Amino acid sequence: MSEVLEKIDIPGLELYKRGKVRDVFFLEDKLLFVATDRISAFDWVLPTPIPGKGKVLNGLSVFWFKKTEKLVKNHFITDNPAEFGIDVPEIKGRSMVVERTEVIPFECIVRGYLAGSAWRSYKKTGMVGEYKLPEGLREAEKFEEPLFTPTTKAEAGHDKDVTFKEMEDKLGSEKARFLREKSIELYLFARDYLERKGIILADTKFEFGIKDGEIILIDEIFTPDSSRFWPLDSYIPGKPQLDLDKEFVRQYLLSTGWDRNSPPPELPPEIVERTKERYEKLYKLVVE
Ligand SMILES: Nc1ncnc2c1ncn2[C@@H]1O[C@H](COP(=O)(O)OP(=O)(O)O)[C@@H](O)[C@H]1O
Ligand SMILES: [Mg+2]
Repeated sequence: MSEVLEKIDIPGLELYKRGKVRDVFFLEDKLLFVATDRISAFDWVLPTPIPGKGKVLNGLSVFWFKKTEKLVKNHFITDNPAEFGIDVPEIKGRSMVVERTEVIPFECIVRGYLAGSAWRSYKKTGMVGEYKLPEGLREAEKFEEPLFTPTTKAEAGHDKDVTFKEMEDKLGSEKARFLREKSIELYLFARDYLERKGIILADTKFEFGIKDGEIILIDEIFTPDSSRFWPLDSYIPGKPQLDLDKEFVRQYLLSTGWDRNSPPPELPPEIVERTKERYEKLYKLVVE
């Protein structure tokens, strides 16, 4: 039986941020990330956790940070906080110590397929970010080349699309180019790897920070919370694809008649169990 962790406070450590899913603490001049089992959907944190989900998310980030460190330096230090004197059994397997950086206030999004907010924008205006796309594209269609569609990182409210030029004006051309180039390289690397595992990486998001004057990759990478994963064997453009992780959760929530504007309902045990299996399966598929 997997244990559930919904929320944690660690005596002696000051909270840096409690996000939707992760609880982050100051640790010396570094940060301690703990991935809880909270799950969010439609921008809400659900009242029911998915046992073991945090371990899957943490494990995927650790796997990818190690695998991509040659492409770009990242903030990962260790997934064993005991090395820093933190001996808390509940966070074992779901935590990592990382370099604390000054966060660059952009979300570096790379899209290989027309989905989510990009599809909604395309239907309305024919544009995705600053790109004018050809007419007649279908939902979930693959782009010839992946698109770099950065947004601001809003503390409150919704992130806003920015053009590459706006990024250059804010950060300087050299930094902006570095972020674009590394984001696309990372996306292509993971896309090709995942394709061999039967998974489509439809789109993904990176964050970068500055440590000792150098740009490094931070936050989480190639997790279902930062990326869209679709099963390759059932991919048919022209309709919404089912996400590999939250398929049952989204379908259940929609089937309850929940209005998405008030706190969401609890998930029944059967949905929790099936979702838990999906996360475990995803982890195995990627890592093994
Ligand atoms: N190495 C780092 N240094 C400083 N801040 C970081 C680092 N990595 C991630 N962060 C920030 O920590 C926060 C983590 O919160 P998160 O769990 O993503 O919550 P949410 O996405 O729900 O806001 C984010 O604001 C992210 O930008
Ligand atoms: Mg986040």
